[in-house]
Amino acid sequence: MEWTQALSVGVDIIDEQHKELFDKINSLVEAIKSHTCKYKIGDVMQFLEDYVVFHFGEEEKYMRRFDYPEYRAHRQQHDQFWENLQKIKKQLPKIEGGKKPGSYDLSVETNQLVVDWILEHIAQIDKKLGAYLKDKV
Ligand SMILES: [Fe+2]
Ligand SMILES: [Fe+2]
Repeated sequence: MEWTQALSVGVDIIDEQHKELFDKINSLVEAIKSHTCKYKIGDVMQFLEDYVVFHFGEEEKYMRRFDYPEYRAHRQQHDQFWENLQKIKKQLPKIEGGKKPGSYDLSVETNQLVVDWILEHIAQIDKKLGAYLKDKV
């Protein structure tokens, strides 16, 4: 997936964080293509967890600081993503147990979750937030 200007939310610090997500998910796509995703998915999952805590936290801080009227709805999407991520993560110990069954499916599922997130959340919901924050930060 390529980063394009159309995905910019107009606030540099948020765009930079979004690009980090792009880079990581592209590295997972590469690993899926080269059949090495079973070695990669654990690392990607750890990244996603850390990333979500930090990045969602940052956006939520901005929303509260500037009394964003759609805070609750936006926050709900963040919480939902976290839950979806946990559902996939729960299946990880089985993979790290040696035989790594299902790592391909799990990698594809993770990729799909993030791609949907980029299209449905970043490109729309975060963009709306960016427009609101643009002349405030
Ligand atoms: Fe975001
Ligand atoms: Fe967001």
